[in-house]
Amino acid sequence: AQTTRIAVTPGDGIGPEVVAEAVRCLETLRAKHNLALEWTRFPWPSHAWHEEYGESWPADALAQLKAYDAILLGALGDPGPMDDTNRYLLPDSISLAPLLDMRKGFDQWVCERPARLLPGARQYLKDDRAKDIDMLVIRENSEGEYVSQGGRLRQGKPDEVATQMEVFTRRATERIIRYGFEQARKRAGERVQEGRTRAFRTLDGRSCESQVCLVTKRNALRYWGDMYTEVFEEVSHDFPDVATHHELVDAACMKFVQCPWAFDVVVASNLQGDILTDLAAVLSGGMGVAPSCNLNPTDPNMPSMFEPTHGSAPDIAGQGIADPTAMLFTTARMLDWLGRKDPKLAQAGKELFDAVAADLAEQGNQQRATSQIGDAICKRLQA
Ligand code: IPM
Ligand code: MN
Repeated sequence: AQTTRIAVTPGDGIGPEVVAEAVRCLETLRAKHNLALEWTRFPWPSHAWHEEYGESWPADALAQLKAYDAILLGALGDPGPMDDTNRYLLPDSISLAPLLDMRKGFDQWVCERPARLLPGARQYLKDDRAKDIDMLVIRENSEGEYVSQGGRLRQGKPDEVATQMEVFTRRATERIIRYGFEQARKRAGERVQEGRTRAFRTLDGRSCESQVCLVTKRNALRYWGDMYTEVFEEVSHDFPDVATHHELVDAACMKFVQCPWAFDVVVASNLQGDILTDLAAVLSGGMGVAPSCNLNPTDPNMPSMFEPTHGSAPDIAGQGIADPTAMLFTTARMLDWLGRKDPKLAQAGKELFDAVAADLAEQGNQQRATSQIGDAICKRLQA
């Protein structure tokens, strides 16, 4: 196979620490299976780069990254110290901009965030059915509340008005909803193979292996809600084997806590998906285990980006205690994604997922050093 090339961008805070373990796992897998895999490490985007050059990354950063098959990102954001006027050196709006620029620049219109409570992960919900939590939240990643349109009128005056526009297009709505149904079908197939069947009901009472739940706020935000609902209904006709469901976002939050095991695939808008996926991460054991992918499934010339749901956690950075589990699950998903071109990589991804899951099942969520967890997983991979 042609060599697959990864851009490794460790970023800030605990990013470099967890990325180091991901790279060790990649090295182990490459040696073991003789994978046609290469990676290049970039010192940007990062706070350090900003300090030296006055910008988070070079002007041609996107052009450089475009040459890779995928981007493996640790975490971004490091406000630095406060100045005399109590302002941070680098506010989030600056240090996190490259993340949004990559999503936009490479049209990574899907954000996939699985939430499955695996054995060994911290169980925040007391109910024993929590063990059955296995959902995939699909966040629309290209528009909606994140279009950054609007402004401030009469800034600083008592009668100031800030506007923040949301834009939803039928094209982006159609593709994200269709993607949701496709994933539901795919997950059902995988579950059946693994003997983990589930049952969801269609509106006319038939039993299905999978379900897509659409989240909106159509009782208050009509135009967007109506279009999403209409497109959802249209697309669902192509997937008679997948049950459909709808929740208003506030009720969805409630049900994520009350009965998260009742969800399968969940499709949500950019901001609502952002909020729901922090909640979903906790349901699956916390930020330490929650993977995330920013995907462009339509243009093979655009790299997808793989970054755990967690942030840079400056409070624990530099201590070697960050849990690399989320980063490693994310790396496993990256390999699976790259397996579309080179099936050996998909196989390696499955191996990595299994090794991380086995480590979690055996060791639970006890406090271990970052490198200790990496060691244990590399050892499993070598066995
Ligand atoms: C995430 C993050 C980002 C987002 C921030 C850092 C801009 O919360 O990836 O979930 O809102 O998308
Ligand atoms: Mn978020």
